[in-house]
Amino acid sequence: MKVAFLGATGGMGRSLARLCAQRGDAIALLGRDPEALARSAADLRVLGAPRVVGLACDLANPAGFAPALDAAVTALGGLDTVVLSAADCARPADLDADPARGARLAALNFTHSIAFLEAARARLLARGGGTLCVFSSVAGDRARKATGIYGATKAGLSHYAESLDLRDRPRGLRVVLVKPGFVRTAMTADLPAPPFAGEPDAVARRVLTAIDRGWPVVYAPPIWRLVMLAIRALPRSVMRRTEF
Ligand SMILES: NC(=O)c1ccc[n+]([C@@H]2O[C@H](COP(=O)([O-])OP(=O)(O)OC[C@H]3O[C@@H](n4cnc5c(N)ncnc54)[C@H](OP(=O)(O)O)[C@@H]3O)[C@@H](O)[C@H]2O)c1
Repeated sequence: MKVAFLGATGGMGRSLARLCAQRGDAIALLGRDPEALARSAADLRVLGAPRVVGLACDLANPAGFAPALDAAVTALGGLDTVVLSAADCARPADLDADPARGARLAALNFTHSIAFLEAARARLLARGGGTLCVFSSVAGDRARKATGIYGATKAGLSHYAESLDLRDRPRGLRVVLVKPGFVRTAMTADLPAPPFAGEPDAVARRVLTAIDRGWPVVYAPPIWRLVMLAIRALPRSVMRRTEF
């Protein structure tokens, strides 16, 4: 693959980029922290990626999306896969304490994420298609007390990705919607791990299989498909009484 990542300096994105490097994919790392980009790029080269380039791109700054993706196409000599795993997350209590933070989170995880995906989609379609891999969340599957603004952005992102899959698959664009359950990364470091918590490397292996096979939706760890099936079936009166 010739693959561009936004959000692969850490967490599940990094694990996925490392798998891609090990099998010889060419990689453009888009990110906001030059030192983290340089560190990650060096790691991917050691693992075997034939070509790795680090490019400045902050999900908070949509004006930078097109230049970064164009630079990725130039550096890799083409582009067939784009992965978006960057996102923000915050507890409801923190958002209550700082309403501006909630507005920033909503913009980053929804408006800006869609702007990035639209820019990537246009470039993939212009080249005859490819794969757009979108990290959403099980938090978008059912409203819970704790999901709040974050869950709402992920519900919107999941809807958008599903719609793109319906619309663009005939034109050669495969959309892979990733719905992680709880996974131990920096994003969840200060949260108590629930049952069925996953590890980023195992999630990455499953996501890479989904990309290779063009699965439209992938829960990871896979047990979360069943967990969410059960949670979606709970009546609202029960959801009012549960604290998760
Ligand atoms: N962990 C979970 O339990 C879980 C569950 C469900 C869904 N998800 C979703 O899965 C995805 C990956 O989560 P993760 O846990 O792997 O996250 P993570 O460990 O926090 O890593 C996030 C990555 O995104 C980058 N990033 C964050 N903000 C950015 C910005 N403004 N511009 C550019 N890059 C930015 C980070 O780079 P920096 O080094 O610059 O910070 C890092 O590389 C996210 O979409 C998340 O919402 C996670």
